[in-house]
Amino acid sequence: MKIAVLAGDGIGPEVTREALKVLDALSLPGLVLFEGDVGGIAYKRHGHPLPAETLEMARAADAVLFGAVGDPECDTLPREHRPEQAILGLRSELRLFANLRPAAGFPGLEDLSPLKPELARGIDLLVVRELNGDVYFGKKGERDSAGGREGWDDMSYNEAEVRRIAHTGFRAAQKRRKKLTSVDKANVLETSRIWREAVIKVAAEYPDVELDHMYVDNAAMQMVRSPGQFDVVLTGNLFGDILSDQASACVGSIGLLASASLGERQTGFGTFGLYEPIHGSAPDITGQGKANPIAAILSLAMLLRHSLGREEEANRIERAAAKTLASEIRGADLGGSASTGEIGDAVVRNLLSI
Ligand code: NAI
Ligand code: MG
Repeated sequence: MKIAVLAGDGIGPEVTREALKVLDALSLPGLVLFEGDVGGIAYKRHGHPLPAETLEMARAADAVLFGAVGDPECDTLPREHRPEQAILGLRSELRLFANLRPAAGFPGLEDLSPLKPELARGIDLLVVRELNGDVYFGKKGERDSAGGREGWDDMSYNEAEVRRIAHTGFRAAQKRRKKLTSVDKANVLETSRIWREAVIKVAAEYPDVELDHMYVDNAAMQMVRSPGQFDVVLTGNLFGDILSDQASACVGSIGLLASASLGERQTGFGTFGLYEPIHGSAPDITGQGKANPIAAILSLAMLLRHSLGREEEANRIERAAAKTLASEIRGADLGGSASTGEIGDAVVRNLLSI
């Protein structure tokens, strides 16, 4: 079992270190870790945010544990050299088209949600976000216009892309509460019209799953008004990016939510994937011990479940993380005073006692 560890920039290395502590505590036999540079640090060392050797390391592994990329010192670089290109490059080069972002309320954290506690308690949803298409991967550029310089980005989805992610969404719903809400903007976008029609066709293969459709603006409102109505939220790259951050805030902090990015390649133990917290490199708190490592630790749990077939260990990590939060060992993002390292240590202690 090979894991490529790409910690990246800012708090990426800080939270990844804690996830690796937890992995170490599991003492899994036959596990080999490789570490590679990615993002701003890779640009500074190798002249490219996603060096060829890092990409090769990721390809050769069964799974990638990713921290975060993004560095204010690189903000003025041309787009192809910016750290964020590394994660977009990994997603497209490794054909990771399905992004799973679970958001569920943690017992004891209801009061920290901006929502009413009874609403926060009801959150148990999975955002299934398409990751290889949409406006993020369309042609883009700058041109002159009567209003001065004009930026443009192509937004597109074809039926095959929508069908592929729809199958992921419906299969996930079958394992959950069997409800799928497809989120689009079909009243104004051609992309969304094709999206909706393709989802409806795929739905015929999953008669046990209840399908409904929601426009993205309404979905954003409903997620705050009554998040408990959602089970699987199936959506495109742009809408999924925004809605999953929103779902995380409803849970309590962006530092709590993990994600899996999966493709079709099988590893022998499961499906190859890249696992990362949904947050970024958080330069505002880098180096201060304030980063919450729970999202990175839960990303490790998803890695063990989806890529290494280690469901039992994944469940143990999730229980240990929930127990840590319930015991009020919390970082500044949740109104506590525990440092990144102290939170990681507490998860390890709880893991070993479960
Ligand atoms: P961000 O997610 O890094 O931070 C947003 C806010 O949440 C900040 O106030 C930050 O301190 C806080 N925060 C984030 N993670 C936290 C954690 N684990 N514990 C406690 N607080 C946490 O998003 P932002 O500020 O928009 O972007 C910063 C950089 O990260 C940018 O360069 C951006 O492009 C990059 N980014 C990278 C991503 C990735 O690597 N997949 C995803 C999102 C942003
Ligand atoms: Mg985002």
